[in-house]
Amino acid sequence: MKPVILTGDRPTGPLHLGHFVGSLQNRVKLQNDYKQFVIIADYQALTDNYDNPSLVRNNVEQVMLDYLATGLDPALNTFFIQSQVPELYELTCYFLNLVTVARLERNPTIKDEIRQKNMKDSIPTGFFCYPISQAADILAFKADLVPVGEDQSPMIEQTNEIAKRFNFLYKAETLKEVKSLIGTVGRLPGIDGKAKMSKSLGNAIYLGDSADDIRKKVNLMYTDPNHLKVSDPGTVEGNVVFSFLDVFDANQTEVEELKAHYRRGGLGDGVLKKRLVEILEALIAPMRQRREQYQKDPAFVKDLLRNGTNNARQVAATTLLEVRSAMGIVY
Ligand code: TRP
Repeated sequence: MKPVILTGDRPTGPLHLGHFVGSLQNRVKLQNDYKQFVIIADYQALTDNYDNPSLVRNNVEQVMLDYLATGLDPALNTFFIQSQVPELYELTCYFLNLVTVARLERNPTIKDEIRQKNMKDSIPTGFFCYPISQAADILAFKADLVPVGEDQSPMIEQTNEIAKRFNFLYKAETLKEVKSLIGTVGRLPGIDGKAKMSKSLGNAIYLGDSADDIRKKVNLMYTDPNHLKVSDPGTVEGNVVFSFLDVFDANQTEVEELKAHYRRGGLGDGVLKKRLVEILEALIAPMRQRREQYQKDPAFVKDLLRNGTNNARQVAATTLLEVRSAMGIVY
């Protein structure tokens, strides 16, 4: 039997290059060696979009298309919709008692989000508890590995605490601790040079972008504001074009040479940007093609999600039987 991966995303918008280097790339790489479950976390997306459920609803198929576009193979992956697996809600409820409010308050991801979203004294309970629901997602599938972006490590830590606590309290070996797999790049900056690429910051390059979008965005990239003339010496650190070349350019020896040249002076931003446009276009063009292929067959995509969700329900239901039995909640 293959080891299990459980991974996924919130359907709040199209996926971008940050998602790609953070986890999608790993998922594609590992899909042959693991039984991979991919969760479209619509319930979790609702915890901070409850005032706009249609945004979440409308992005489910879009994220699904992004998955297929990236090269996740329908024959190798089980794609499912979180809200349609009620067993996950049930497991979340049992877990709610195993985590203290103080522990949730210390979760760095939650802390950051509360600050960013300016929630202060009006934190929705559902939002506050989403790490517990995420633990249920992972533990219900007895996952061995979770490929996620760097910001998700605290969630995995919390998940393992819950697994241990459950097994200890109910003298069981029902739940399995999990490992996270963080992408090669901790965090891809946005095109504006902000620390993180994100839809809400409006600084993302999407996996569905056209060749024209890519060119425009790369041309907008933040470089060295003091590098006015080609002959001026330039700064590499914090220069987004170089950050991207570091990540996406297969020829790192040449990138090092370009950096030295840029620092000396005599190398224009235009040359570097042209190089990056070509690299990104070569990465994204096949995704665009696959997406177009699948877009022609919405019934296939719908069935894929329906069947995947049914399969996921069966797996989660089996775990829930064991969970209830470990707790003695059997009638
Ligand atoms: N929190 C993840 C994100 O923001 C989405 C997610 C929900 C998830 N449940 C998960 C990721 C379980 C990995 C495993 O993208």
